[in-house]
Amino acid sequence: MSVDPNRLDTLLKEDRKFAPSEAFRAQANFNDPDIYDKALADPEAYWAEQAQNLSWFKPWTKVLEWNPPHAKWFVDAKLNAAYNAVDRHRQGPRKNKAAIIWEGEPGDSKVFTYDMLGREVDKAAHVLTSLGVKRGDRVTIYLPMIPELPISMLACAKIGAIHSVVFGGFAAASLRDRILDADSNIVITADGGWRRGGVVPLKNNTDEAVEGTSVDTVVVVPRVGKAAGAQMVDGRDHDWNELMAKASTAPFPAAEMDAEDILYLLYTSGTTGKPKGIVHTTGGYMVGVNTSMRSVFDLKEDDIHFCSADIGWVTGHTYIVYGPLSAGATTVMYEGAPDFPDRDRFWSIIEKYGATIFYTAPTSIRTFMKWGPQHVEKHDLSSLRLLGTVGEPINPEAWMWYHVHVGKEQCPVVDTWWQTETGCAMIAPLPGITETKPGSATRPLPGIAVDVVDENGDSVGAGNGGYLVIKKPWPSMLRTVWGDDERFQNTYFGKFDGTYLPGDGAHLDDDSYIWILGRIDDVINVSGHRIGTMEVESALVGHQAVAEAAVIGRSHDVKGQAITAFVTVKEGATADDALAAELKQHVAAAIGAMARPEEIIFTAELPKTRSAKIMRRLLRDIAEGRVIGDTTTLADASVVEELKKLYKD
Ligand code: WTA
Repeated sequence: MSVDPNRLDTLLKEDRKFAPSEAFRAQANFNDPDIYDKALADPEAYWAEQAQNLSWFKPWTKVLEWNPPHAKWFVDAKLNAAYNAVDRHRQGPRKNKAAIIWEGEPGDSKVFTYDMLGREVDKAAHVLTSLGVKRGDRVTIYLPMIPELPISMLACAKIGAIHSVVFGGFAAASLRDRILDADSNIVITADGGWRRGGVVPLKNNTDEAVEGTSVDTVVVVPRVGKAAGAQMVDGRDHDWNELMAKASTAPFPAAEMDAEDILYLLYTSGTTGKPKGIVHTTGGYMVGVNTSMRSVFDLKEDDIHFCSADIGWVTGHTYIVYGPLSAGATTVMYEGAPDFPDRDRFWSIIEKYGATIFYTAPTSIRTFMKWGPQHVEKHDLSSLRLLGTVGEPINPEAWMWYHVHVGKEQCPVVDTWWQTETGCAMIAPLPGITETKPGSATRPLPGIAVDVVDENGDSVGAGNGGYLVIKKPWPSMLRTVWGDDERFQNTYFGKFDGTYLPGDGAHLDDDSYIWILGRIDDVINVSGHRIGTMEVESALVGHQAVAEAAVIGRSHDVKGQAITAFVTVKEGATADDALAAELKQHVAAAIGAMARPEEIIFTAELPKTRSAKIMRRLLRDIAEGRVIGDTTTLADASVVEELKKLYKD
């Protein structure tokens, strides 16, 4: 297992504790400490009780059917995710309540009440239906953070179509892989998106991505206008606004979906091969997200929930769209960068809309720290009552900065550990109950059976480290990998029978608090984005000058991890700065800007074991300047000396 040794050092020294204030405890949705034991004793009863917070067309006959590793939750029950997120709120006092408050990067903004959102979703469902979209079809959505993104998702859900949202930062080739894997024949995109005043050419990328695929329909939302340089293709492309203007305004009946019908696919990087299409179903996912909204985020009727993630990632699916809306709250979505036009943009959004909950990633917090507290102090953040983080381990220093400068020491901080695969938070404090420790995600949520085990699958117990595992099924767990159930079984249940392996290392302290150490596989976490080393390596060897490449994640002050690529070039190619710059650009163009290597190190040879496996761990030690341990399995030990020298230079 190779986890960040610096993190272990830091966390073992951390002994600060923060108990919930009496005032917070008294008003919290979850404030009975016995909930943990009760849920542990009968998880199915716990989840069945939580499920009562959703509206079901037909109740379940059985809470769980578990044939490891396949789970069915809320067997035979029927519901619709869009009905739960929107329509049911249109009927009562929430009808004219703000559902989505949207702020565009250039400063434009829009508010959709539940009733308005419902009308837009219904129109969009009519539009998609008229374009031939049916229940079970995969709809690829490649949009910037504009209202049409959640509207499209909810329209799919209303029809019973499966959405596959692709983050707008992905390049054409990544979009294409996802379209092909999902076997999707429709893409919803925009002419372009705004990013720091520049234009992200989404439509041009889409044109490139769909070439030669079975996509026959592209719907284009006009967002940036002429600056995008987008061309419409006759017969294939449609203008979203024109379709919406002509669409029927009749209510669209919500499809009665089985609890186990697929709600969406979301692709995520793994250790080997292409990204996996993680499959989430309707009933369990909605129960999980709705429950965690009320438990971890303590969501109440009056909350204004601001999650700064992009909806292209699971955090946005769960905690911008389905979570807050299913609970009938107000969700804030922002289109652009945190430093545009100034470094106080998030704080200005919180002040402007009176956000009560703010949820962001540790990498952002470390960036804010670097920029300095003056940007925060310019704004009145007194509306805030709870702060959250997600995406990577948070260092205690960043946790404290967040707590002091943003939360003014008044807001509980919830560090939430989870994954695309888990659907919603798994390890996190209950803010009215759990004492927090800076840097620890604390303990598993009620109903979630987390443990830390050794190589044999035995619990390591307090004071020790090992593999993080989840021993029992939970409602919002992934059901399979789209089109590859074998990969699902091997990746997640192959090591320990019937026990889910997330791929993270963890340490239990003396109070059995969980400290996540980071990935134990070849997945790099750059600014909270999961990138497989394999993906970057294949992009690099796809360049004509590259013979071989080995990619590692090294620790980075702000990003958490940064990508370092060790590259050997082909005969005749010149390994110089110009080529390094070209290779970085090549990777960004092949995958997306977040995968651009921080540094490229040219080397005559890569260190390999005698069985010809590249020793990535050794490369990481070199990149992080650690003393090199055992290299006896190395085929040619002189390679290491050479590499160390190159890296220092
Ligand atoms: C990491 C994001 C430490 C972890 C929701 C996990 C975290 C991967 C935390 C999933 C946290 C996420 N503390 N590490 N609070 N949250 N991670 O699928 O390595 O994009 O396996 O889901 O991020 O990333 P994903």
